[in-house]
Amino acid sequence: MTVLPDDADILALGREAEAMIEALAAISAEEGRLTRLYLSPEHRKAADLVAGWMRDFGLDVSEDAMGTVRGRLKATSNTPLNHRLLVGSHIDTVIDAGKYDGNLGVICGILAAREIVRRGIEIPFGLDILAFGDEEGVRFPTTLLTSAAVAGHVSAQALEGRDANGVSVADALRVFGGDPQRVAACADDPGEVLGYLEVHIEQGPVLEAEDLPLGIVTSIAGAARFRIRISGMAGHAGTVPMALRHDALAAASELVLFIEETARSGVTDSLVATVGELGVRPGAVNVIPADVALTLDIRAASDNPRLEAVKAIEARAAQIAQARGCSIAFEPYHEVNTCPCSPDLQDAAEAALQRLGLTPRRMMSGAGHDGQAMSKLTDIGMLFVRCKGGISHNPLESVTVEDMGLAVEAMVGWIEQLANKERKN
Ligand code: GLV
Ligand code: MN
Ligand code: MN
Repeated sequence: MTVLPDDADILALGREAEAMIEALAAISAEEGRLTRLYLSPEHRKAADLVAGWMRDFGLDVSEDAMGTVRGRLKATSNTPLNHRLLVGSHIDTVIDAGKYDGNLGVICGILAAREIVRRGIEIPFGLDILAFGDEEGVRFPTTLLTSAAVAGHVSAQALEGRDANGVSVADALRVFGGDPQRVAACADDPGEVLGYLEVHIEQGPVLEAEDLPLGIVTSIAGAARFRIRISGMAGHAGTVPMALRHDALAAASELVLFIEETARSGVTDSLVATVGELGVRPGAVNVIPADVALTLDIRAASDNPRLEAVKAIEARAAQIAQARGCSIAFEPYHEVNTCPCSPDLQDAAEAALQRLGLTPRRMMSGAGHDGQAMSKLTDIGMLFVRCKGGISHNPLESVTVEDMGLAVEAMVGWIEQLANKERKN
């Protein structure tokens, strides 16, 4: 018989989560703002803090060769097949980040494991809480490397990718204490893993608009990223007539606006496209820009409209290049199809939310998550937590104490639902 938590329990859990959020948020590469990139010294400190919490709560702690911290709780009954349920999220951040993106999911997993032990809840499977380190993909030209390693899908080439200072993933791993030679050993055995669960902030406005604390994710949008290089010709800003210029920045400007227009007038509302980086060279007031490097991030709920939009953008780029006497090259570096969440895990989440008296709102995720990589290993399920104004990737990110408490409680209930189901099998 499960006993429903009262409001005081939920607030107490939320306060614990908040204290842990603050402790992690204090670990940053920059004074006054939160920046914690994969394999940085700050990532090292955050991983050690998380490992310490796991140990304090009685979990068996290990760290794999790519830097994922894992806290293991043994099954309370015999599991001949070594069955385990994975629960996780990430502790890397974007530049000038909010405190909750990723970090809240790791904390919810740790607190849920602690509550399972404290309440004597029987689990007929092991529970592994994972703190991934590369969900944001900000430092290196790859993303989701740590979860991809757990799923057994990291290429040797990915380890050669370099950051802006020329440091490769492999070299950064060695400094971090990882081991690029042992990436294959990070992989979980698909025969042992029952599923992957994650709590994450919504990063959008839907739950707040509907006055709901939690939502159940149905699928994660497909996404692609490109580096685009535009080459024109440098020249004197005072002497080269307008008609004779090959201005790379003017070409880039046309392309950026076309990208926006394509997404705005896309065949599906879920199509979004962003140029988030733009570098101009040589970059002087009196020199016609010769080179522009920009990035494109494009996502949609279904794959075809996204692929069609990319084709249209590439075709327009070719026209712009020809009209302006420039060259425009697209280098793709990330591509994931739309990733569905398991209907069974969604149903179990629904039962957990109903038990708490919450409306089980189902919704898709526009943001990317470690679940996309984990789906190559096992079924995935996600719960979203309301965040203020839907704001994320911004220091204004905010989640209430009560919603955090509910998220921990929902994770406990979700695991219990799966434990009941596993016992019946
Ligand atoms: C990660 O936050 C992403 O969706 O880019
Ligand atoms: Mn995230
Ligand atoms: Mn993020």
